[in-house]
Amino acid sequence: MNLAVFISGTGTNLKALIDVQKEKFFDSRIKLVVSNKNAKGLDFAKDNNINYIVSKDDDEILGELKKHDIDLIVLAGYLPKISKKLINSYEIINIHPSLLPKYGGKGYYGIHVHEAVFENKETISGVTIHHVNENLDDGDIIIQKEVDISTCKSAQEIADKILKIEHQSLKEVIKKMEEDN
Ligand code: GRF
Repeated sequence: MNLAVFISGTGTNLKALIDVQKEKFFDSRIKLVVSNKNAKGLDFAKDNNINYIVSKDDDEILGELKKHDIDLIVLAGYLPKISKKLINSYEIINIHPSLLPKYGGKGYYGIHVHEAVFENKETISGVTIHHVNENLDDGDIIIQKEVDISTCKSAQEIADKILKIEHQSLKEVIKKMEEDN
């Protein structure tokens, strides 16, 4: 599959995918990275000669997706709401750092997810990868992995522990999707 990875932040999930692509863990190839801003994670695209665009314009993004013959869009820490147009044109998956539907929806992004989890003294959190529909964090769930956070002493510690599982889960889902295709 030809992948487009959408990011808004540090891009460690993108980096993890680039690494496994180098190891040939899956056949899919990251053909395009899209960001709504000059995100730090774009450096991973630049360093690895992967095409990237910074744009908030739907038509421009759609044009690039078409140009690179994209089969699957992976939202990896991408913050803007995805338009209907994009949802109707592409298969899109998202990675979310909690066990959805818990700690999903408006306001639950990045460290805010883990802060809420920590404040509520949860002992288990996790990772969800799901299909994207018009509602935030709401599409069909592809995979969920539980993570024991009972010994974590801060939201950041939870975030760090879960991020490692995100990297692992994302590559597994992509491999599974290409096998199913
Ligand atoms: C990850 O926790 C992802 O689940 C969430 O935003 C974070 C992005 O991390 N949606 P990174 O940019 O891949 O490092």
